[in-house]
Amino acid sequence: MIARGVDAVSCDLLPSESPGPHIQGDILDHLDDGWDALIAFPPCTYLCASGARWWRKRQYEQALALLFVRLLLGANIPKIAIENPIGRISKAIRKPDQIIQPWQFGHGEVKTTCLWLKGLPLLEPTEYAEGREQRCWKESNTKDRWKRRSRTYIGIAAAMADQWGKNRYSDALATKAGHPRCRDPE
Ligand SMILES: C[S@@+](CC[C@H](N)C(=O)[O-])C[C@H]1O[C@@H](n2cnc3c(N)ncnc32)[C@H](O)[C@@H]1O
Repeated sequence: MIARGVDAVSCDLLPSESPGPHIQGDILDHLDDGWDALIAFPPCTYLCASGARWWRKRQYEQALALLFVRLLLGANIPKIAIENPIGRISKAIRKPDQIIQPWQFGHGEVKTTCLWLKGLPLLEPTEYAEGREQRCWKESNTKDRWKRRSRTYIGIAAAMADQWGKNRYSDALATKAGHPRCRDPE
């Protein structure tokens, strides 16, 4: 987003892995900070269909995960996109507005990804790739497996930036430049 001139800030409970403005904290504390847009990738551990066999034993965690998604979707922000795999959100909250695949955005892989949108157009595919590999299933079982599995594909991120960022919509994605908790690169 920033590379495309969008005044964007990331937010995660974890530190940022790359330079740029980042709020390390709970997004719920920042939903009312005056943003123009929110693109959120909430944790899918207790929501994704691939973990459905554990849902019955994880009802409390799932209820919290759904509440989190509801709060993000219901935020008082004009443009919102929520990304998650196929899973519980569709029945518990509502069906996604769009289902995309990495192979529509230049990556020859399959990872069925849902988008719930408010005030944003459907994401247009940018480059159809040939391959249809099931990348996630092949990921090795290391400690940071969840992180690698949930990594946003760069082709999808680029499409979001190009189509939802400053180029198509004249206003900046975020108005909070200079936010006291944003860490600037050294
Ligand atoms: C599915 S991962 C997103 C990964 C992202 N797509 C990427 O490419 O790095 C979900 C992230 O949400 C973060 N998270 C969970 N609860 C949060 C909260 N309340 N506020 C901010 N971040 C949160 C987690 O730390 C995790 O990094």
